[in-house]
Amino acid sequence: MQSSQLLKASKAEQFVDQSSSSLQRDTPLLHSSASSSIFWSKMRKNFLPMLVSAVVSCCLLLSGSSGATPADPQLEKRLSYTAVSDFKAFEYPVALAGLYANIGPNGAKDGGAASGVVIASPSNSNPDYLYTWIRDASLVYKYIIDRYVSGRDTTLLTGINNFVASMGRIQQVSNPSGTVSSGGLGEPKFLINEAAFTGGWGRPQRDGPALRATAIITFANYLISQSNTTYVRNTLWPILLLDLNYVSNNWNSTGFDLWEEVNGASFFTTAVQHRALRQGIALATALGDTTGVIATWTTQAQNIFCFLQSYWSASSGYIVANVNPGNGAIRSGKDANTVLTSIHTFDPAAGCDSKTFQPCSDKALANLKIYVDAFRSIWSINSAAAAGAAVATGRYPEDSYYGGNPWYLTTFAVSEQLYRAIQVWDSLGQGINITSISLPFFQQFNSAAVVGNLAAGSTAYTTMKTAILNWADAFALVAAKYTPSTGALSEQYSKSDGTPLSASDLTWSYAAVLTMFDARDGVTAESWGAASLTLPSTCSTGSSGGGGGDTGGGTGSTSTVTFKVTATTVWGENIYLTGNIAALTNWSTSSALGPLTNTNTYPVWWVTVTVPAATSFEYKYIRKSSTGAVTWESGSNRVSTSAAAGGSTTLNDTWK
Ligand code: NOJ
Ligand code: NOJ
Repeated sequence: MQSSQLLKASKAEQFVDQSSSSLQRDTPLLHSSASSSIFWSKMRKNFLPMLVSAVVSCCLLLSGSSGATPADPQLEKRLSYTAVSDFKAFEYPVALAGLYANIGPNGAKDGGAASGVVIASPSNSNPDYLYTWIRDASLVYKYIIDRYVSGRDTTLLTGINNFVASMGRIQQVSNPSGTVSSGGLGEPKFLINEAAFTGGWGRPQRDGPALRATAIITFANYLISQSNTTYVRNTLWPILLLDLNYVSNNWNSTGFDLWEEVNGASFFTTAVQHRALRQGIALATALGDTTGVIATWTTQAQNIFCFLQSYWSASSGYIVANVNPGNGAIRSGKDANTVLTSIHTFDPAAGCDSKTFQPCSDKALANLKIYVDAFRSIWSINSAAAAGAAVATGRYPEDSYYGGNPWYLTTFAVSEQLYRAIQVWDSLGQGINITSISLPFFQQFNSAAVVGNLAAGSTAYTTMKTAILNWADAFALVAAKYTPSTGALSEQYSKSDGTPLSASDLTWSYAAVLTMFDARDGVTAESWGAASLTLPSTCSTGSSGGGGGDTGGGTGSTSTVTFKVTATTVWGENIYLTGNIAALTNWSTSSALGPLTNTNTYPVWWVTVTVPAATSFEYKYIRKSSTGAVTWESGSNRVSTSAAAGGSTTLNDTWK
């Protein structure tokens, strides 16, 4: 049922394929009419780590057979390990040094990046990744901040301060997505000197502000625990307010997914937005905020939480990563997007909660099996794997970027989800629950498994857990097998022979292997409140989201208008809306809102738009033919007035 409603919710969008387009008009992800039924020191210079790694690699090399053996003389020399602990002993310091090397201003491979800027990769052609992506940088710094706040490396503070300062500057840079107050926070990437990237791209990408907020809040919480509230209030909070208001105001608008290809609703984006807002609410509460953001964010967090449920397809038994049926390229929806979500929204206190798709939840485990299975038969690199054995996995099976290949960070993510699942089973002491949803996952390890509980400490529990641990390790070892003997991690490895491909030294790949190792070691992750959440019984779009972009400065000044027009059309014709305010595109025909939705409502076409509250405006509908020819409604402009802040109105019009 959820999937058809997703279709309904998403048919409203003008899904635009591909990253070549620049500005896309924001449209709601969820419409109110569909809602009631949708359930649902610079890095410390890097000198020390580099040195450590140099020493480690040097000694490994000198000691000869420390595990790094060439796999195939025809190919680059590779690592070959039979135990993840051995792989870790070699790879951890290499990855750490590789990650630090990609951070300005003194990283060994930073390409001249400004202070605090994380480059995606030093590769400046084929592909050119010498930019900073908000997503990659925030995930990388989440790891660094976790490392710092857990006391593992007290020298990281300067680098963290540089990162915060850089992000504070980047927030203010006007860019093709807008200014800081008109949508610019959704811009996915910037030049490494922090200037705007003005070329065509899949923009906006709305996971960036959320991931950045989660990283910075982790730092803020630590500082508060150290009684350094002043720095949090004066320096971190203004940055967080911008990002969290952006999330609160825009979660219900379409944007490009984390792979920068699909314009619509993305599970990863929705989930990380949800997490960030929950953390923001807790921080605002701790700081004694009285500006009203707590109430607004709480309302929106509930709405996002509700919407999050709609990505689960009960009939297919997996999480559909992108709600994009209007978008030409048909995909299965099986996507590492969902596995990354499980690890980046892990909350150790939430048990195996399926509403937040925790790593050991039945939904996340069922999904993981289906995701992995999608790669078994499509690539020759996996053809020798026994049935059910670990294989190389990538972004999604239909991927064609660089021909479509396994990625290091996605293969490591499979291991990480499983390590976190095991950690929770062991710490909860409530055994392993097998539901009808997760049964196929568990039957991979014991074909006689049945729905029920494997009691903590029982032989059945231990046998199952051990099999899953071995399987988790096997994924890490697949990626290890295709890691060159230097330990360098690029973005992809070849689907036919495992040769590293695409961007070299991908910073995100290093972060991914490091968090995977940490998860295996049970390194603590912080709770973000997933344990205590209750789903609302009906979902709402909230009073924000929609066509106007965000105000960046809080809510309360907008209301929504649902425009409905009865218009019969001929094949190829669509109805659009334009008007005299920015939210209605200032009488633009080329960027008029639309096409309006008509799924299940034709000949009624409709759209919900966020507009300034209590404001009089003019508007008209237009029709565009298949060739793009525009026909305006006849007669004088239509006039209406929006509701007071937080309210909504509906206009029932007939084409004239
Ligand atoms: C570049 C993007 O970064 C990548 O994710 C995408 O697959 C390719 N463009 C192709 O659209
Ligand atoms: C392409 C990936 O699809 C995207 O997720 C990433 O942000 C960029 N490359 C930079 O690494």
